[in-house]
Amino acid sequence: MAEAKSGLDITTIREDFPILKREIHGRPLVYLDNAATSQTPQQVIDVIVDYYSRYNANIHRGVHTLSQEATVAYENARQTLQRHFNARKAYEIIFTSGTTHSINLVANGFTGFLKKGDELLVSAMEHHSNIVPWQMLCEKTGATLKVIPMNTRGELVMETFHDLLNENTRLVFCNHVSNALGTINPIEEIIEAAHAAGAAVLIDGAQSAPHMKVDLQALDVDFYTVSAHKVCGPTGIGMLYGKEEWLNRMPPYQGGGEMIAEVTFEKTTYADLPNKFEAGTPNICGGIAFGAAIDYLNEIGFEVIEAYENDLMAYATEQLLSIEGLKIYGTAENKTSVISFNVEGIHPYDIGTLLDKMGIAVRTGQHCAQPIMDYYQIPGTVRASFSFYNTKEEINVLVEGVKRAVQMLQ
Ligand code: ALA
Repeated sequence: MAEAKSGLDITTIREDFPILKREIHGRPLVYLDNAATSQTPQQVIDVIVDYYSRYNANIHRGVHTLSQEATVAYENARQTLQRHFNARKAYEIIFTSGTTHSINLVANGFTGFLKKGDELLVSAMEHHSNIVPWQMLCEKTGATLKVIPMNTRGELVMETFHDLLNENTRLVFCNHVSNALGTINPIEEIIEAAHAAGAAVLIDGAQSAPHMKVDLQALDVDFYTVSAHKVCGPTGIGMLYGKEEWLNRMPPYQGGGEMIAEVTFEKTTYADLPNKFEAGTPNICGGIAFGAAIDYLNEIGFEVIEAYENDLMAYATEQLLSIEGLKIYGTAENKTSVISFNVEGIHPYDIGTLLDKMGIAVRTGQHCAQPIMDYYQIPGTVRASFSFYNTKEEINVLVEGVKRAVQMLQ
């Protein structure tokens, strides 16, 4: 397990993640649930400990030293995100509690922009968090939600997408990478066509940000969402990128302290970006740790991460398919390191439970994407999702584990 072909020093990388030394039911942990949440390197844990040990204070509010140190660190983290995702301005990065919060913020912001007869386009492979807020918005405004279908490989049917776009389309939303299938969607084509039709685009980047470098200005996307806990940061923090024009047009999502310019009982005026969307005391430590997590990933390098993970996925796909009766859902030509599968005649939950007894963590069920499961007419899948700190040895353990589970359950 030393230097991988892709140039990743996997032994050193694994040393960064203390949790990987854990044993589960007497077996070494094999953590393959990275699409649900990634693990946290010591470098990020140290940043969290340092914050609470040395400069925990409220930001933007104090003349005292601790408050100023915390403010500088929080705003530096925003700039780290701006640079990493190549946003035009740091204030186009809004800290949220995560992707779900980010999408709800935009859905709320569009309430006043929509009317009966307007159309919203959603892809067939969305997480519930990129479906339900829009359904709620349609209920409020009378707009209609239309679905871009997918084929059996788990790829969007782009011809139908182009047919669905029309002068009534106001907004298109789609994940960059499907959390349940691993498909990398052709977002460049989606954004370009939507803009040509006069519609805005929100891309859910929760599952792409961990695996690839994203250039928001090159994409020319209107909104992009990320959760820190998928990119080696903590839970409860994430970001919404929004183009300045849109963020200025949208009303605030929540009212409270920090999001105001002036408050009287007669009238309140709102603060400039980004504060307008960051009411109340934010997750200060989380924001700082989010920035540190992005720094950590950039130190390894996304090209190296991508090459290594693609190699892992190709190996895992080949090995898993050697198991009789195993079917993979999501076989798109362009996909990243998620493998959803079932074994004929066995419920995914039973396989997941037995794998846990062997120390192997996978996710089972619908993965918050029920329409995908309905499409395939299955109750759910077993999902193994890989990160750059996983190894081929761990994949061998998974494959042997699935074989044993199948023997026990058949
Ligand atoms: N969205 C996360 C997943 O796919 C929770 O597991």
